[in-house]
Amino acid sequence: MRLKDCHNFGDFRKLAEKKLPSPIFHYIDGAADDEITYKRNTSAFDDVDLVPNVLRGVENIDLSTTIFGKKLDLPFYCSPTALQRLFHYDGERAVGKAAQKFNTMFGVSALATVSVEEISSMIDTPKMFQFYFHKDRGLNDSCLERAKAANFDVMALTVDTITGGNRERDLRTGFTSPPKLTLSSLYSFATRPMWGINYLTKGKFELPHLQDFVKEGTSTNSSIGNYFSTMLDQSMNWNDAEKLCSKWGGHFALKGIMSVEDAKKAVDIGCTGIMVSNHGGRQLDGSRSPFDQLAEIVDAVGDKIDVICEGGFQRGTHMLKALSIGAKACAGGRLYLYALAAAGQAGVERALGQYKTELTRDMKLMGCTKISELNRNNLRFRNL
Ligand code: LAC
Repeated sequence: MRLKDCHNFGDFRKLAEKKLPSPIFHYIDGAADDEITYKRNTSAFDDVDLVPNVLRGVENIDLSTTIFGKKLDLPFYCSPTALQRLFHYDGERAVGKAAQKFNTMFGVSALATVSVEEISSMIDTPKMFQFYFHKDRGLNDSCLERAKAANFDVMALTVDTITGGNRERDLRTGFTSPPKLTLSSLYSFATRPMWGINYLTKGKFELPHLQDFVKEGTSTNSSIGNYFSTMLDQSMNWNDAEKLCSKWGGHFALKGIMSVEDAKKAVDIGCTGIMVSNHGGRQLDGSRSPFDQLAEIVDAVGDKIDVICEGGFQRGTHMLKALSIGAKACAGGRLYLYALAAAGQAGVERALGQYKTELTRDMKLMGCTKISELNRNNLRFRNL
């Protein structure tokens, strides 16, 4: 199987599984507990049917949307995700360049493997920094200052990782950052020698935003669940979020909002956006899918801040449904991560290109030429 054989999300996933040692593949592919929420994030789209209109003259389709005051050519973007150089040696460099090519937003995690300074010198399209509220206040200040100095456009505070999710696949495979060989994973590392060669020869593995402050993740092996549980500040509250928002002084979002109550509070503290998200099903299993929860949140705050639906997207039609409910944009991590693992920048470009092609086709078949023409009249919820 090669890149040219990848025609959809599932194909990229298969190729990623072939290329990555199993602990690393399962870190991306896994989620919390029984992974019910992870599956539901995507299957939720199947409970709603599209109702197309015809005879509307659809030769020109405009997929652009404006979020956080920035016009993107696509109504979807690459969510920030951690540790990307473990998935492909170019990591964030590859994803950033691909996002720039499509003029969409690129999110960079505090747990990224390439620095905000380097990303900023590389691409000039909109960038988001994903902030984790650490116990170490020096680390927090440093992240904020560096993202600001690097001209990042949006600061997103992660609010759904107050403790580590129970990721049983990581427990089984022994996945840590930095990765370590275990007896049970030896075979899968040995049968993917290119990954090991690249890991050892293509530049040292680093977490440039964290390593001057904490050794966990760079010089001490840590699982992500353990990192969240021990390094992040569990006392974080609305006061802290409000202070961060005003300290940042620009577009500020909360990533991981699921209730109307919290969405309203986000507006009150000065956020300009929220990501309706359950962290890809990786934290609280049994929580509702972002798509299922979208309508009530859009109804409550959609006229005040940008509501972004994050997670579960595998098809253009999935995005079409979320945009019809009223999401300003769609976002995802696995959306491009398997493609990154499959073939680096070329892989991510192919994946983003396919979503764009699907969305363009789907818009035509729906009889809509602009994202703003999509609305709830296009949808019927099945009686379950
Ligand atoms: C995750 C974090 C790092 O593993 O976002 O879900």
